[in-house]
Amino acid sequence: MTIKNICCIGAGYVGGPTMSVIAQKCPNIKVTVVDINEDRIAAWNHKDLSRLPVYEPGLDKVVEEARGRNLFFSTEVDKAINDADMIFISVNTPTKTYGKGKGMAADLKYIELCARQIARVAKQDKIVVEKSTLPVRTASAIKSILENTGNGVQFQILSNPEFLAEGTAVQDLLHPDRVLIGGDTTQEGQKAIQALVDIYANWIPNERILTTNVWSSELSKLTANAFLAQRVSSINAMSVICENTGADINEVSKAIGMDSRIGPKFLKASVGFGGSCFQKDILNLVYIAKTYGLDEVADYWEQVVLMNDYQKNRFSDNIVSTLYNTVSGKKITFFGWAFKKDTNDTRESAAIKVADNLLSEKANLSVYDPKVTEERIYADLDYLNSRSEEENRKLLKVQNNPYNAIKNSHAIAILTEWDEFKTYDWQKIYDNMHKPAFIFDGRGILDTKALSKIGFICYKIGSAT
Ligand code: NAD
Ligand code: UGA
Repeated sequence: MTIKNICCIGAGYVGGPTMSVIAQKCPNIKVTVVDINEDRIAAWNHKDLSRLPVYEPGLDKVVEEARGRNLFFSTEVDKAINDADMIFISVNTPTKTYGKGKGMAADLKYIELCARQIARVAKQDKIVVEKSTLPVRTASAIKSILENTGNGVQFQILSNPEFLAEGTAVQDLLHPDRVLIGGDTTQEGQKAIQALVDIYANWIPNERILTTNVWSSELSKLTANAFLAQRVSSINAMSVICENTGADINEVSKAIGMDSRIGPKFLKASVGFGGSCFQKDILNLVYIAKTYGLDEVADYWEQVVLMNDYQKNRFSDNIVSTLYNTVSGKKITFFGWAFKKDTNDTRESAAIKVADNLLSEKANLSVYDPKVTEERIYADLDYLNSRSEEENRKLLKVQNNPYNAIKNSHAIAILTEWDEFKTYDWQKIYDNMHKPAFIFDGRGILDTKALSKIGFICYKIGSAT
């Protein structure tokens, strides 16, 4: 089976970059990315490539090469579904905010809507690929919806979870550690798997393309995110021990990371992990464990999220206690709002929680982030409903220049590890702040020895200095 026409439902952080790379690497396949969000599609089609809805290093070049050739962005969902041999579902799967499983289970309503739309529109046999992150056994629900249309169309369902990280999406897609494809063990299922393997084989070495059964594939995605988040919570748990004992978390990370069984990656202490997936996927796993009555397993994984909440809260608590137990009316500047560097994504960013805590203490915040818009920052805060929208705008000001942002601040807090923060003229910054001038480095990126020499009072996550 040779695929000629792909449709991807969902033009977000995963659908957009993933399909752009498939289109770039497979010029003979027509790839159409559809979304119900008209503004998002318009942005993907914008002729100014700096206006794409997702900021990812290198993405503009990939889109420039493929768009209009074999890569298309459209709101005509039915047409794209009907034309396609293979349909990727890459819609959002947020945590449920209502009903059973509220605050934990994945909300699968967008997935189900896609399945129903495919069932309604499809006239010929199709392969449906789960690209979104889903609870294990979701494929059986999709299958049940698709198989009960009564129109004789045959569907194969594959699981092909995405492992890209934001900020490095293009590199991760071009050179993935592995691509995982789960499918039915039947002959038809194996043929469908092979069709997707053939697509990836255009640029990914065969030994990196792993095939499994559907359930293993679905569960591997949740497991990978749970393990990664667990590493961050583990190193963050050690960071507070370091602060209390005089050990230094960077030295500890290096020492344990040199053990080849542990490895050096994902051992950077921080103000807490963010991003749209870690918390959502762990809570989803916790919920799955609970539904099987596995309370000890559920509690084990939930602790990873609780540790992360603790890390965010203790960072803001430390700012308040260091600033003589009151930040009311004091100006604190945030460098960074995105959940990590090199992305404009702010979903679940630690900065949001830290800001909310400080605003509740009546601090005045000034925020500078090189990529995040003012509109986004206010939307993140308003969503929490902690205070009125007017109050959020009164207490927090967004700045587009770091040197303006810090004027007359009492303290600076580093919330995102943007490289440019390391290159600032810190003497000039010091000269324009109230004294004593404090720095709270929640990412451990600054040279606190040099800053102390200038006169700053420094706190660095995981270090007693
Ligand atoms: P996103 O919110 O950026 O994009 C989802 C898009 O789907 C939105 O633009 C939305 O309008 C669209 N959509 C929803 N319902 C639709 C429908 N019925 N028809 C057409 N369009 C519809 O989400 P994302 O970050 O791209 O994540 C998508 C999935 O991929 C999630 O399950 C997530 O867990 C997973 N994932 C995300 C990342 C990441 O880095 N963001 C990485 C790996 C996996
Ligand atoms: C993560 C995974 O790394 C991807 O493999 C996965 O596909 C994706 O989630 C997903 O399913 O959405 P992402 O959230 O984009 O990717 O970014 P990460 O690099 O994993 O960082 C997540 C958070 O952990 C960030 O806030 C980051 O600052 C923090 N982090 C990461 C640390 O605090 N310390 C570290 O050592 C590493």
